[in-house]
Amino acid sequence: MEKVLLLPGDGIGPEVVAQARRVLEVSASQYGVDLDLEEAGIGGNSIDDHGTPLREEVLDIARQSKAILLGAVGGPRWDDLPVLDRPERGLLRMRSELGLFANLRPASVFPALVSASTLRPEVIEGIDMLVLRELTGGLYFGEPRGIDESAAPVRACNSMVYDENEIERIVRVGFESARIRRKHLTHVHKANVLEVSQLWVRVVDRVAPDYPDVELVHQLVDSCAMLLVRDPARFDVIVTGNMFGDILSDEAAMITGSLGMLPSASLGEGGLGLYEPVHGSAPDIAGQDKANPLATILSVAMLFEHSLSLPEAGRSIRQAVTAVLAKGARTPDLILEGDCTKPVGCAEMGTLVLEGLS
Ligand code: NAD
Ligand code: IPM
Ligand code: MN
Repeated sequence: MEKVLLLPGDGIGPEVVAQARRVLEVSASQYGVDLDLEEAGIGGNSIDDHGTPLREEVLDIARQSKAILLGAVGGPRWDDLPVLDRPERGLLRMRSELGLFANLRPASVFPALVSASTLRPEVIEGIDMLVLRELTGGLYFGEPRGIDESAAPVRACNSMVYDENEIERIVRVGFESARIRRKHLTHVHKANVLEVSQLWVRVVDRVAPDYPDVELVHQLVDSCAMLLVRDPARFDVIVTGNMFGDILSDEAAMITGSLGMLPSASLGEGGLGLYEPVHGSAPDIAGQDKANPLATILSVAMLFEHSLSLPEAGRSIRQAVTAVLAKGARTPDLILEGDCTKPVGCAEMGTLVLEGLS
């Protein structure tokens, strides 16, 4: 029995996870995997039901699982809470408690979606990159942090903190990933201003001689943001810290067509992985059957590859998605203004992918 914990979350989370669950179940049975699925609350719904965005017992179930599939957390209903009590904290705590430091966000363009991008076809053709984001350190977790309400004027601070071990382990994942791809690694930093980035550059240069077959480029984060829209096909693997990776992966998603297409895997030292779409809870379209479930379905493909050692199941899901898109099925986010393609809903998109699974 392979235990998989489903955490649908808030907003469109439950809608996209419902479709991804169908794909997970059908693929598992096709490849002879006996699944033990359990569902639990996380984020805003857990705050409403239990007073906390992540219960200890849910964390315990996660620890006993092979993989976790998450939808999204957060929404306007909980926006006024202090940062440390918000729905997003449940997700951040889960990543941190489970030691999931390596966040893989692959962005490639499906041929049928070339025209769905807001960029010109000749710019986006051939995009195939992996944004590798450090996930358990940096500005998200550094101390000191907080708002000093007693100061006049009121002050707030966050700290970007990395030690060399935290940097080295993600950088090595970067080199290893590049090695089995196009052998090109871009380290993204802001070393012209930040000491933390200077340490990253030092560690990357120290590790690089172990990977002589990989070409290395250090790139400032601001110019990287620019190059991502000017010439995205030049990138193979991008390795960077938590905050820069958060921002650049949304940018990478949009150049491939839609935020609704980008999957992710968060991995640590053990076999456990957390799989989730890169997008959020999309409160503007929640509950309307308009969400694109493909990012979550493609996250299931990554789950098969990384946590269940079944790359062929992952490939078959990706092929089904490619075929469905080639036949012209589009959720509203994949239709540019002025295009009169009739959209399909979230559930129908799920059904079409299921039909394409062979
Ligand atoms: P968002 O990613 O939720 O939405 C941005 C835009 O993209 C919206 O217009 C939305 O409709 C669209 N979009 C996103 N996913 C889509 C999909 N699958 N199909 C179609 N359209 C999609 O970002 P936001 O609006 O800035 O954030 C909303 C909430 O989500 C916030 O509370 C934020 O903290 C949270 N969030 C959660 C996660 C997560 O749980 N992993 C990630 C990002 C944001
Ligand atoms: C993401 C999200 C999260 C992050 C939020 C919801 C905490 O934006 O996974 O990209 O910033 O890591
Ligand atoms: Mn994000």
